[in-house]
Amino acid sequence: MTTTRRKLVAGNWKMNGLTASMAELVEMCDANPTNCDVIVCPPFPLLGRFVGSAGNSHIEIGAQDCHTAESGAHTGDVSAALIKDVGATAVIVGHSERRTDHGEQSGLIKAKAEAALANGLTAIVCIGETEAERDAGNAEALVTAQMRASLPAGATAANTVVAYEPVWAIGTGRTPTTEQIASMHAALRTALKADLGEEGHGIRILYGGSVKPGNAAEIFAIPDVDGGLIGGASLKATDFLGIVSAA
Ligand code: PGA
Repeated sequence: MTTTRRKLVAGNWKMNGLTASMAELVEMCDANPTNCDVIVCPPFPLLGRFVGSAGNSHIEIGAQDCHTAESGAHTGDVSAALIKDVGATAVIVGHSERRTDHGEQSGLIKAKAEAALANGLTAIVCIGETEAERDAGNAEALVTAQMRASLPAGATAANTVVAYEPVWAIGTGRTPTTEQIASMHAALRTALKADLGEEGHGIRILYGGSVKPGNAAEIFAIPDVDGGLIGGASLKATDFLGIVSAA
C-alpha cells in the first residue's frame, strides 16, 4: 500500500455561468496552480471554449453528465465520445441533483461511468445520503452500497474518482463534523480496498458540500479526504483559487 494520492479540487459550475464567466476561468488559468490537480466543469455549451481557454495551463476541463450511448437518437443528451472529442478529460456522473431532478439511479450512473471510461475520460462518481438517511443512523452502510452500485467496472485509481457529497450539505452552508467526514471516508476506503485492492487504495475520495476558502484546509486535512468537489465557491476565481491553495 504505497500509492500516494495527489489531491484533486474539481469545480462544478452546475447551471451557472454565461460567456462572460470565461473571465473567471482565465483568472484561474493565469494563476495556474500546480500544488494539486484541478478540474473545472462548466455547462455543456461552454465546454469547448473552456478547453480552448485552459490551453496549456494545468487546469483540466470536465463535463457534468454524459449519456451511456456513443451516439444516436437521444435529444438533448451528450455522449462521452463528444466530451472527449472537444478536449475535456473528465465527467461528473451521479450528482445528487441529477439523481433528484432526473430520477437517475445507481445502475444508470454506473453505465454512464463505464461510457466515460470507454472514452478515456475520468469518471467522477458522486454519492451521498439525504438528511433523513443521516438521521436514521445508517448513512455509512447506505452510501457504501450506493458507491458499490455506482462504480464502473474496470475502475482504477487513474480513471475513477469518488465524490462523497451529503445531500444536506450541498449549497446549504452546513457541513458534517470532522468526525462524520472522517468516518464516512474511512468506510468508503475500506470498501474500495476490499473490492479493488491496491487500486482501491489509490482511488481518490473527494468531499463535497459547502466547501469554502475558510473551511477547505481543515476538511482537506482529514484522513482519506483527497480533495473536494466544489459548487458555489467554484464560480469565482478568488474563492476557487483559495480552496485550491488549501489542498
Ligand atoms: P456546494 O456544491 O459547494 O455549492 O455546496 C457542491 C456540489 O454540489 O458539488
